[in-house]
Amino acid sequence: MKKFSYLLIVSALAIFSLVVLFPACEGPIGPAGANGTNGTNGTNGSNGLDGKDANAFCVKCHNAAMFGAVESQFATSKHGEGETWAGDGNRQSCARCHSYQGYKETMLTGRDTVEFIPKIPVALQCDACHDFHGTLDSTDFPNYALGHTGPVKVLADPTKTIDFGNSSNACLYCHQARPAAGFPLPLTGDTTYAITSSRWGPHHGPQGNLLNGTQGWQVAGAMAYTNTNHKGVATCSMCHMAAGEATLTGGHTWRIKSADGTKVNVAGCIKCHAGATTTDINGKQTEIAADLLKLQNRLIALKLLDPATLLAIPYNQVGSGTKLPGKGAKWSLKETGAFFNYQMVEADRSKGAHNYKYIKALLSNSYDALN
Ligand code: HEC
Ligand code: HEC
Ligand code: HEC
Ligand code: HEC
Ligand code: HEC
Ligand code: HEC
Repeated sequence: MKKFSYLLIVSALAIFSLVVLFPACEGPIGPAGANGTNGTNGTNGSNGLDGKDANAFCVKCHNAAMFGAVESQFATSKHGEGETWAGDGNRQSCARCHSYQGYKETMLTGRDTVEFIPKIPVALQCDACHDFHGTLDSTDFPNYALGHTGPVKVLADPTKTIDFGNSSNACLYCHQARPAAGFPLPLTGDTTYAITSSRWGPHHGPQGNLLNGTQGWQVAGAMAYTNTNHKGVATCSMCHMAAGEATLTGGHTWRIKSADGTKVNVAGCIKCHAGATTTDINGKQTEIAADLLKLQNRLIALKLLDPATLLAIPYNQVGSGTKLPGKGAKWSLKETGAFFNYQMVEADRSKGAHNYKYIKALLSNSYDALN
């Protein structure tokens, strides 16, 4: 009997160890059960939130066709193939906006100009503007992983910043007037200006300043300085990156008008200007182009502007060859300011579209100030 109970204990232990200690001896896994029902957005907390299908959601942007299309547009754009990247990016005062390296460096250091002058400057790369989606939270989309969208220091008036509060800040970092000697100019007074460089002025790309309605020389005149409120409702990309035609306009070509001038992309405009077929809305571009020409002719007559180059004629320049004689005396405040406004609007290249009311007032009051 003792022997029997001993045997019983031993076999019980053996069965226990087989079943509990070696569960791998289970039978094969049964077939998968049916999917559970979807949650219903957590009413009373009784259900879980609906999940997002990452495969459907993320691949709206992250797919080869989208990136391929973007890359081929980018390759034709001025950001991708403009001549100034290789041509001017290796100069200290230009590298910030004219080289990928200079842009990245000043982003990191917060300085206005680079410390390291790139020997072989290259054009913008995708990750100049794009970074990583900070949150990866679907409620935060569309989120284009734009890296720099904070307020931007105004180079032409360094005590000020501009904050559009949206992706336009990323563009403003470069698309703003450069500092010009003497700026910001006073609005009144008898100071005269020794303009000795034909390059004097706000330089190319003051689109951000004009969209914001600041940094023009706001001389008092018949017209008040008000704004067409594009900055409050539209971003640079809404107008410049609205879906266009393949590699001709829109998207990462940034072109509203195709390079050959035959196609115009108004896809951005019609969201607010119903039925627009041209960017010359209410004839405003035609009007501003005429005002600009009128001011231009006045500046030429005053020997401030060279009609061939549209650059300044240094006041003390002695005419010879193709060089026109300068004015022969320092420029008055009004001449200096009106010239600055002319160049600002000329270099903006939107013919008033960025901020019709402000641009109209700058041109009109500048012209009147010279007469
Ligand atoms: C609205 C378009 C869009 C959507 C939707 C989107 N992304 Fe992106 N994502 C981008 C862009 C644009 C970039 C920058 C690409 C670059 O720099 O080459 C990016 C960058 C990234 C990067 C960094 C890649 C790198 O090389 O640095 C990761 C990771 C990423 N996305 C993951 C996701 C995930 C996960 C989702 C879904 C939750 C998602 N994205 C949804 C547009 C999108
Ligand atoms: C790192 C500086 C930099 C940033 C950031 C930048 N740009 Fe540019 N952009 C340039 C330069 C420089 C050129 C001219 C390049 C050339 O012609 O060599 C240019 C050219 C352009 C053009 C002219 C296109 C043409 O075909 O004539 C447009 C439009 C434009 N940028 C819009 C934008 C918008 C919109 C953004 C923001 C999403 C932006 N840029 C961000 C520097 C920048
Ligand atoms: C604050 C940024 C910034 C700085 C600094 C800057 N540029 Fe530019 N530059 C731009 C932008 C933006 C454009 C494009 C504007 C446009 O397309 O309307 C541009 C356009 C140009 C163009 C005209 C390209 C064309 O096709 O018409 C030349 C040339 C140029 N820059 C040279 C220079 C040189 C030389 C320097 C340095 C002495 C310099 N830039 C400094 C922002 C800058
Ligand atoms: C000058 C800045 C800039 C550069 C450089 C740039 N992007 Fe973008 N990208 C943007 C902006 C701004 C948007 C958001 C456009 C909008 O608001 O509709 C965007 C949107 C996108 C999208 C979403 C497109 C869509 O239609 O929804 C993708 C994908 C993308 N970029 C990829 C790239 C890739 C790849 C490169 C390099 C080949 C690149 N980007 C270079 C500024 C830039
Ligand atoms: C309300 C729409 C709108 C907004 C917002 C806008 N632009 Fe433009 N932009 C235009 C139009 C229209 C033109 C002129 C196109 C033409 O007639 O060829 C233009 C012209 C330009 C040009 C000259 C080259 C070209 O493509 O004609 C540059 C560079 C430019 N804009 C940059 C910017 C930047 C940078 C911002 C944001 C700071 C911006 N724009 C905001 C509509 C807009
Ligand atoms: C997000 C909305 C929005 C978009 C996009 C937009 N605009 Fe506008 N635009 C407006 C508003 C609002 C006004 C009137 C503002 C005011 O009177 O102060 C206006 C006024 C104008 C004016 C002055 C018209 C007048 O009679 O005074 C012009 C020119 C103009 N827009 C051109 C354009 C062009 C060109 C585009 C596309 C490239 C465009 N806009 C895209 C909202 C928009």
